[in-house]
Parts: sequence; structure tokens; C-alpha cells
Amino acid sequence: MTIPRLCVALMMISLLVMAACKDKRRERVWTIGFSQCVGSDLWRRTMLEEMKTELSLQPNHKFLYADADNNSAAQIAQVKDMLKKGIDVLIISPNEALPLTDIVEETFKKGIPVIVIDRKTASSVYTAYIGAENFQVGKMAGGYLARLLRFKGNVLEITGLPGSSPAMERSRGLKEAFRPYPGIRVAAQVHGDWLPENTKRALQAERDKLADIDAVFAHNDRMAQSARHTLRQLGLDSAIKVIGVDALPGAGGGLDMVSSGTLTASVLYPTGGKEAIDIAFRILRKQAFQKENLLKSVVIDRSNVQLMQLQWARIRDQQKDIERQQKLMAEQKEIYRNQRFVLNLIVVTLVLAVVFGGLAFRALQTIRRQRNQLIEMSEKAAAATEAKLNFFTNISHEFRTPLTLIISPLEDLQKNTKVATAAGRELNLIHKNVHRLLRLVNQLMDYRKIEHKELKLHATPNSLTAFVGEIVDHFRHIAAKRHIDLRLLVKADPNTVWFDTDMLDKVLFNLLSNAFKFTADHGRIYVSVDRNDREAVVEVSDNGLGMDEEEQGKIFNRFYQSDARRGGGSGLGLSLSKELMALHKGAIKVASKKGEGTVFSVHLPLGEAHLSETERKPSAGRQLAPYHEAPEEAPSPISLVKEQSLLIVEDNLELLEYLTSKFENDYQVFTANSGTDGLHIAFEQIPDLIISDVVIPGISGRELTKQLKADVRTSHIPVILLTAQDSVEQQISGIQSNADAYLTKPFHFDYLRASVENLLRNRAVLKAHYISDLPLSGNQKAPVSNIDKKFLNDFARLVEQNLANEQLSVDELAKAVGVSRVQLYRKVKALLNCTVTDYVMNRRLKKAKYYLANEHHSVSEISYLVGISSPTYFSTLFKNRYGMTPTAYKKTVFGNKL
Ligand code: FRU
Repeated sequence: MTIPRLCVALMMISLLVMAACKDKRRERVWTIGFSQCVGSDLWRRTMLEEMKTELSLQPNHKFLYADADNNSAAQIAQVKDMLKKGIDVLIISPNEALPLTDIVEETFKKGIPVIVIDRKTASSVYTAYIGAENFQVGKMAGGYLARLLRFKGNVLEITGLPGSSPAMERSRGLKEAFRPYPGIRVAAQVHGDWLPENTKRALQAERDKLADIDAVFAHNDRMAQSARHTLRQLGLDSAIKVIGVDALPGAGGGLDMVSSGTLTASVLYPTGGKEAIDIAFRILRKQAFQKENLLKSVVIDRSNVQLMQLQWARIRDQQKDIERQQKLMAEQKEIYRNQRFVLNLIVVTLVLAVVFGGLAFRALQTIRRQRNQLIEMSEKAAAATEAKLNFFTNISHEFRTPLTLIISPLEDLQKNTKVATAAGRELNLIHKNVHRLLRLVNQLMDYRKIEHKELKLHATPNSLTAFVGEIVDHFRHIAAKRHIDLRLLVKADPNTVWFDTDMLDKVLFNLLSNAFKFTADHGRIYVSVDRNDREAVVEVSDNGLGMDEEEQGKIFNRFYQSDARRGGGSGLGLSLSKELMALHKGAIKVASKKGEGTVFSVHLPLGEAHLSETERKPSAGRQLAPYHEAPEEAPSPISLVKEQSLLIVEDNLELLEYLTSKFENDYQVFTANSGTDGLHIAFEQIPDLIISDVVIPGISGRELTKQLKADVRTSHIPVILLTAQDSVEQQISGIQSNADAYLTKPFHFDYLRASVENLLRNRAVLKAHYISDLPLSGNQKAPVSNIDKKFLNDFARLVEQNLANEQLSVDELAKAVGVSRVQLYRKVKALLNCTVTDYVMNRRLKKAKYYLANEHHSVSEISYLVGISSPTYFSTLFKNRYGMTPTAYKKTVFGNKL
């Protein structure tokens, strides 16, 4: 069971338990059975009303009611039925005493309390009796009549049902009342059986006996009223007094009859309905009660009927008030019950809301925790993947140095005709595979650059057909060898197309390499160039292995490698090609059929509107030729003096050794394994050029360059940085550190050599400038740093100011410019290609030449002014330098004016 379900179940159980406890606290529901001998007349209806009114004040009861309609047998059956249904108390008004006695006793004996009301049974086996004393009722009526008739006269008695107790007792009571008065007597007796119609019938039947009747006593008002009407109908004396029993209030009741004169009087006979219910609950609740409960009676005639009616009216009003209030109370109770229900509902809802809120909160916490865990896990996984890829990339970086070390000597060997004759084929194989390795490494690195958005498009306008043709030509040899029909088909020449030559070269080279890999000997590979309105399309189609649809869907995935093509490629080539084409806003697509062949199409948008400004700029940093092409021809070396020195800073000892071995024939080579050592040696040796790897122990190649360029002693030294980090940004950062050149690995040694020579040659141009007679001009092409310019100016000024000083020494000058003697020597040598002494002498002679041409000094004076104490020596030096004596020179300037 889930936690929420468990909670709901707990809630339901607790609610049920609460409800059950509440019921227990409540009083049990009592069932009250009421067996009525007859229910249709007003008196009985009044009795029932009284009961119901009283019951409405009592909570928790059921009321079973049965009307026997004057039938004793029916009443017995009804009581039995009630007993069957189950009653807690029986109220019974027995139709006849004897017939009902047994069932009453039986009920009593079963332990069910029996309250006998109005009429009695033949025994006293019952729990309680309620009713007026019928003997007294008869006696009161008799006494009243005796007095009314002045103790003399004939009375007609109309009895109720003879077997019923009130009829028997009232009869007895009447006789008892007449006993003291012999002048008054019951002259006749008829049985009306409590009913008016029976009364009428009986009177009409006994008409003869009615002639001398003075008064009638009927056992109830209804029979009395019937007697009055019948007597009238029979035309008998209206002065006959008629007395009834019951004196019911309300319309059609005895009080009305007395009031209207129909009856002379009526004996009040209370119903006892209210009292019966009251006693029933006392019995049920085990409270004290009386067994015999006799109700009071009174004779009502003209003298007190009004008072009685008023009282009844008042009582009725009060009763109505009570009923209204009861109704209100019931309504209030209902409202209260509803409100309690709503309140309970709210409480339960609230509790449920709190419980579910708690659960939801917990669930949310759990979900959050799980989500965080997932995020953490996926971040870790991404970091791990990134770390792995970085690792592979770094390893690939590392491959470049050894590959360089293989390619360069390999190419040397290939150039060597002797070796080439002996092992040319093997060397070619090695060469091919090394390039293949390099290609893979480069692809991997390009891919990483694309991922890190470092690889930028540098498109230039080119002839696509010519470009494709060159690449196709590259494969001619292998095609011929394998008897593959390789063709270039120009369907429509798109002419100039904007693309990044380096990237498209990689894409097409990769497609052709693959086509050759998967096409059997004697197969065909067609390369076509075509165009439509929007784009140029290059297709490479072969009749090789081909691919099914599933494989076609995967080949552009980064790590996909087909089983059939295993060993045929890294799987990166096509994925990389796709990215490279995406950079062009173009596409690469495939169509293939297993066993029939494959068509790859490369789509390049026409025009240049789709390219941003930066994408249209050619690359600043690509210095190497594409890896599968022959290296660019190195510029022809210029002759350089051998005493020029190089400092090579490289921690890869093999590369260091290789470079040393390649340069040491032409240069004095200093080496260092770390940036810190490199810096130290640079200051010490002031080499003519420094080649340094970027990533080296100690300070980096960039930092080394920065420090060297900031120091006056070394600021003139050209620096070439070598690195495997070949992104344009990294090259720019290298150049920003003031490196004079930036070469990426793998590099061709010839290219490096050319760079070295080029930089040194530029220095030579600079030297020529400084030592020439011309002032330093803005046209100066050789790169010279501000520090170097300042150094040269300071040095020149210093020499200029001290020209007259014959004793001016290198030591003095070095001290004045703040460097050591050797450093000054090297600096001057590097920047001006002469010794300090030569420079000073040169300036002396130049100044002398100036004096000779511009001022009227004697040669001896000039000799003195430029710090050469011997005029003869001055003349010799001047002649050596300018090819004529100072005097002769003066003459050429001033001519005959001298
Ligand atoms: C009603 C009635 C009353 C009378 C009583 C006697 O049914 O006839 O009029 O007083 O019963 O049981």
C-alpha cells in the first residue's frame, strides 16, 4: 500500500471510530407501541395528538400505532404484530376488558412494560394505568342529575360498549349516585356502544320506553348528542335534560354542545395521552412512576362552559406557540446539524489537506532530491565525458610532436636519393601513414574546436571546379594503381564560390578517401560539380559497398563506426565534415544502397550574403599547408654569418635534439629545457634568435617572450613560438606577447628554417639602416620595438655627445646605458651588425665628414673634434672609409671655393 493510500485509510478509520464513539454517547432509540381500540372519533384523535406533541419533546424514539376500529380480535392481532416487530413499551386502550386481558398479561410477562390507558382489562397485571376514574364520572353525572331534577324523575341511561370498563364503571357510578334518592331512578337503559348511530337505532327501537323520561345520561358526548337529535325527531319533550361525558374542546366537541344548549352538561373526561407518554419514558429510563394515575373530572354546564372554553383556547394558543417554537428549534437543530456536518467536513478536509500537504511536500522533497541527484549524476557524467574527450584531445596534441619528429627526418630521407633508391617504397608508406595519423589527430582536434566554438569559418572566393579538380588529381595515382575509373564531371560550373579552402579540402579529401576505401579495384568513383539557383553541389559517387538505411542514419554521428567499415576510419571524418559544412551554412547528404554504391553530396550556398563579415576574412593564423599537400617552397636562404646564435627552448628532448642537429651547422645553438633556464641563457648569451615551445616547464613560452621583449638587453631578439595549440585565438595571444612568429605543430622544418632566416634577414636590413648615413625613416620595414628604438637613440646620443672623447670606451658606454659590456656588445652587434668600437669609429668619421662638408675647420681641428688625436691616422681611416682623404673630400664639396 502506498503512503497516501495508507493515510487515507487511517483517516477513514479514525472518522468511523469518532462517529461510533459519538453514537455510544447518545441515548438508545426506544420503540413505543400504541394499540388504540378505535381511532376515528374526536376524543381518540385528541388523545393521539397529545401523545405526538409529548413525543416531539422526547428524542430518539420510534412510535408504532395501530387502530383496532372497535374490534377486540383485531386489537389482539395488532398487539401480537407489534411484539413481533419489537417494542420497548406497550400503551394500550383495550376495546373490551375481558378479550384483551390475556394479551396484556402476556406482554407484561415478557418483560415489556404495559401502560393501560382509559379502558381497563379484567386484571391488574399491567405496569401502569392512566385515566379518569370512570366510577366517579358516573357518580358525578348522577349527582348532578339528581340535583337538576330535584331528586325526582326518570332517567334514561345510554351505555358504551357493555364489555368495556368505562361503560361498566360509569353505570355503577350512576346507580350509586341515585341510591340515596328513591324519587329518582334509571327508568330505561339502551346500549349505544359508544357510537351515535347505534344510539339512534337503539332509541328508535325503544321508543315506547321514552315517553316519561325526564333526563338522559349518555356515557359519552357523541351518544348524548345523538340522543338529543333522536328525541327531537321523535317529537318528545325538549325539556328533557341530556348529559354526556368527555367535554372535549374545539369544534364538534362537548364544550360546544354544552355551550349551544344541545347538551345540558358534560362530565370532563381527560384523554391522558400526554401523561401516558410521560410515564412511558419514565419507565424506560427507569425513573420513579406511579402505577395508578387517576385524572381529575368535573361537570361542565352553562355556568362554567365559557370559562372552560377560554381556558382551552388559551391552552390551544400556547400549544401553537410551543409547536411553532418546536418547529423553530427543529429548524435550528437542522441548521446546527448541517453546520456541524460542514464544520466536521471542513475539519476533516483541513486535516486531509494538512496530511496531503505534508505528503505532497515530502514527495516534492523526494522528487527534488532525485532530480538534483539526476542533475548531479548527469553533470558528473558530462564532466567525465568532457574529461575523457579532453584527455583524448591532449593525447592527440602529444602525438603531434613525435609525428613532427617522424615527418621532418622522413622527408629528409626521401630527399636523399641514395636512401630513396634503397627504401623509397617503405618511406612512402611510412609517409602516407604518418599523414593519415596526423589527419586523424587534426580531425579530432578540429572536432573539439567546433564543440567549443573555437573553429571559425574563413571563407574566400575561389573557383570551386578548380579546387575540386586539384583534390581529384591528388587521387589519380592511386586510382590508376587500383584500376578505378576516377572522373571529374563538371555538369555546370558554379564559377566563384565562397568557402574555407582548408575546411572544404578536409571534407572532400575525406569523402574521396572513403570512396577509395569502400570501392573495390576496377570500380568507379565519379566526382561531379554542379549548380542550381541557390547552391553549388559537389557529388562523390562510387559503386562500392554501399549502406542500408539504418547505417546511413548513423554515419554522421560522432562515435559511430560501422561493422562493415570497421578499420576503415575513425567515424569522426563524416561527423566533422557535417559540422564543417554547417559552418558554411551548407550541408552534406548521403544516398546509398547496400551492395550498389554510395553518393555523398556537398552543398554550398552561392554568393556571400549568408556569411558574416568575420567569416569572409581569410585566416590570419594558418601558416601550414594542408596536411596532405606538399610543403610550400621555402624562401631561398640568404647567406648569414655563421657566428649568429640561436637559443632553442624545448622540453621535448627528442625535438630539441632534432632542431639542434638541424641548426647547428649554420648557427651557434644554445638550448634550454625550461622557460626559466631559457630566460637566464637569453640574458647571458644574447642570442640572435630564440625558438621556444609555448608549453614548457617554468615560465611559459609566452611569458618568456614578454619578459625578453620588455628588457632592453634582449628586446631586439626575434622570438619564434612553437605550439600544438593552433587556434587562431591562441596564435593571436602568442603574437600579442610580441612573439615575432608563431608556428603550430606539426611544422615542416624547412618552414621553420625559412622563418628563422627571414627574421634574421629583417634584422640585417635594420642594421643597414642604423649604420647607413640616412636618418632612421618612417619607411623602415624591419620590425623594431620601441624599447630597441629608444636604446638605439640613447646609445647614438651618448656616442654623439662623447665623440670628442678620445678615451670613450665600451665599458664607459655600457655603464652609461645600464648593461654589461658583453650585453652591450651583443645588443649592438644584433641591432647594428657591428661592434661598439666600429660603431663609435663610424660615427666619428661620419661627424668628420659632416664637419668637412658644413663647417670651416681644418682637418686637424676636425680630427680633434671627433676624438681622433692623430690627424694622420684620421686621414688614413677616412680614406679607408670614403675612398678619399679628408682634404680631397672637402675639395669635392667646396670645389675651388676652398
Ligand atoms: C371514545 C370514547 C369516549 C369515551 C371513551 C370510553 O371512543 O367512546 O367518548 O369517554 O371512549 O372508553
